[in-house]
Formats: sequence, C-alpha cells, structure tokens
Amino acid sequence: MLRIEDLVVEVAGKEILHGVSLFVREGEVVALMGPNGSGKSTLIMTIMGFSEYKVKRGKIWFKGKDITNLPVYERVKLGIGLAFQRPPVIKGVKTRQIVEIAASARGRKVDVVELAKELDFEDFLDRDVNYGFSGGEMKRSEILQLLAMDPDLLLLDEPESGVDLESISLLGRVINKILMRDIEPLPDKSFKEVKSHRKSALIITHTGHILKYVEADRGYVLINGRIACSGNPREILKTVEKYGYGECLKCV
Ligand SMILES: Nc1ncnc2c1ncn2[C@@H]1O[C@H](COP(=O)(O)OP(=O)(O)O)[C@@H](O)[C@H]1O
Ligand SMILES: [Mg+2]
Repeated sequence: MLRIEDLVVEVAGKEILHGVSLFVREGEVVALMGPNGSGKSTLIMTIMGFSEYKVKRGKIWFKGKDITNLPVYERVKLGIGLAFQRPPVIKGVKTRQIVEIAASARGRKVDVVELAKELDFEDFLDRDVNYGFSGGEMKRSEILQLLAMDPDLLLLDEPESGVDLESISLLGRVINKILMRDIEPLPDKSFKEVKSHRKSALIITHTGHILKYVEADRGYVLINGRIACSGNPREILKTVEKYGYGECLKCV
C-alpha cells in the first residue's frame, strides 16, 4: 500500500528526516512511535504532500505508483487521508461543508448528519471548522472528515492527544469502521482471509492509548529523524514504558 524509501526531508531549511524507509502492507495497521520532535508529523505531512516539506532524497510509493511529486489533491484522490495532530481553524467554513468537501474530493456523496451521529457530532455541524473546539472535539471532527472520505490509507497523527478515555474508545470504534475492522476475526480463521478486504493505516502515537482500541500489526520507532527499530508494537511500548525512548537510542 505504502512504501517509503530512504526519505530525506527538509523543513524551513533544516533537515528533519535523514533517510527514513518503511512500508505499510495492504490491510495492515502500523504504529509510528517516538519522542516529541523526532519527526513523526514531518513524515506524515510529507506523505500527504504539503509543500513546506521538501523531499531532498528518496521516494514515496503508494499502490505501486511513485507519488513523491504529486500535489496533495491527487494523493487524496488516490486514497490517502490524513487526520492532523493540530488541525487548523477555518473561519467562515462550516464543519458540515468541510465534511461534504472531503467526501466530494473522493467522488462520494454522503449523508453528513448520519455520519456525524456515529461520532455524536451533529451539534457541531453548523459551527466554523475547529473554531473554539476542544482538543477532543477537533479529533472527532478530523475522524468525521475521514469517515466521509473513506480513504484506503489512513494517516492518523496522534488521534488520542487531548482526548478523554471515553472518547478514545468512540474514536477507536469509528477508526475501526473506516478500516473495515468491525468484523471480529475468529481464532480458527486464516489471517490472510480476514485481512484481505481491510484498509491500511499509519498511526502516530506518543502514549499508545489508541492501540488499546485499534489493533496495530507492526510498529516503528522514529528517533531524531531515523528509524530506530520495528517490530511488535505492544512489545515496543512495554520496553519504552520501562526504559524510556533513551534505550532506543542505543539501536540507532
Ligand atoms: N514548519 C517548521 N519549521 C521549522 N521547524 C519545524 C517545522 N515543522 C517541524 N519542525 C521541526 O522538526 C522537528 C520534528 O518535528 P515533528 O515532525 O513535529 O516531530 P514529532 O511529530 O515527532 O513530535 C522539530 O524539531 C520541529 O521543531
Ligand atoms: Mg507530531
């Protein structure tokens, strides 16, 4: 679904990513962990194609296509969707409108009120996008837009930050729905069969809370703009909880 090869990225004249390689398979949920300032958001913003993030070296492949130089709207059309860590306020644009725009960017028509009900968000549809929203309300608004877009690859930048525990489970439920993970896999069912129709996600998490609701298949740790390790995300989190990210530095 996604392959990143030796990516070097500069922001505001400073190199932030120093040769990052990773991949997300079709149907796979991958967690991206790492301390603050390690470049996680930079990586996701580069995958989405924002122009401040200058690719100096390396390539981004999506569904077998080199998208390194495609504009954002082309990447959206192809099926990449992003929920921002800190989404912008857009005065003069109603939440209802941006949900409709998100859907139409993917050639979809949606019943906005029905979708909003999933996130208990009907009362916010006539408010300006993110204007005066709490942290948790912004996150619900972001996930609502993704629900309308129905992307094949979800990029979720700290979906749980600023969200109370009860709302994390609500967000988790809707994220699973977008990922088509609402069907519980049976223990005797083969892994491949269950996963074949699912969508993919790259989820940035600092705390790991979201992984209690959305099951990640693999994880990476990013430190100082470099991948320090990859593996079982639960084991990585356990190690980080015990020793901190400092221990990961030994592997860089
Ligand atoms: N627009 C920008 N201008 C200058 N520096 C930036 C910009 N965006 C990110 N950075 C810097 O890049 C580094 C990585 O930031 P970021 O990708 O947000 O890390 P993370 O998401 O892992 O916390 C930080 O040192 C940050 O200050
Ligand atoms: Mg970040």
